[in-house]
Amino acid sequence: MRGLTGMFLDTGKLQEIATYHALGIIRGVTTNPTILAKEGVRGGWPGIEERCRDIAKLVEPLPVSVEVTTDDPEGMLEQARMFVRWAPNINVKIPIHGVGGGTENLRLVHELETGHDIRVNVTAMMSAQQCLLAAMAGATYVSLFGGRVNNMGYNTCGEIRRLRALLDAFGSPAKIIVGSTREILNIVEWFEAGADIVTAVPQLLEGMLIHPYSKETVQQFLRDATKLEQAEERQQPQRISKPGPRVARVVA
Ligand code: E4P
Repeated sequence: MRGLTGMFLDTGKLQEIATYHALGIIRGVTTNPTILAKEGVRGGWPGIEERCRDIAKLVEPLPVSVEVTTDDPEGMLEQARMFVRWAPNINVKIPIHGVGGGTENLRLVHELETGHDIRVNVTAMMSAQQCLLAAMAGATYVSLFGGRVNNMGYNTCGEIRRLRALLDAFGSPAKIIVGSTREILNIVEWFEAGADIVTAVPQLLEGMLIHPYSKETVQQFLRDATKLEQAEERQQPQRISKPGPRVARVVA
């Protein structure tokens, strides 16, 4: 049977990562330049390096995806080699293609995986067919942006099912990541459709965990526990005496 991997946390905030990692429910972390900028990473490259090293150390040996910040293939190669020197559990996110399209990124994915032994997460993909090509190029992870796919009016679950069937038929070891998650429901439905990994922001995991009726139920138990304890205080605690030797009752 196919081995599901689980949820990756989609954040660059150390405190959030520490909290969810301590619960034992995440299997990796994904970042991208937008996330790091939004979450207050400052100081140029030294700042980026420090945050990525801290995240990688915090969750080691779980994988952490760090995305290249350039569209230039030479620059991407240089950055990929730098990222993996920061920590052994860092993998490199490369977009499926650059802003102008083209084939250079896929060539680089193949070169990194086969020539440099660097694990690649191919990102920013919107269809099963793009993911199939990334898997064929040797990518360890192929990331479908499910929320953006749904927002364009296409059906993410359908794309995942199609991709799952193709990767299985080809015997591809690439792991399907579905990210860009917008709703709590997406997490379970995308796993059911065949994703190996679903990325989620902490608010979605919190929404998955906390249920108003669970709160009400726990409240009821606590209320009744208080009654129970107070009732015990009012009564004399029963003495528990050691059982003596059993004496046969004489029936008159
Ligand atoms: C996943 O790897 C991406 O970082 C992320 O899910 C992108 O999501 P967005 O569509 O919210 O930017």
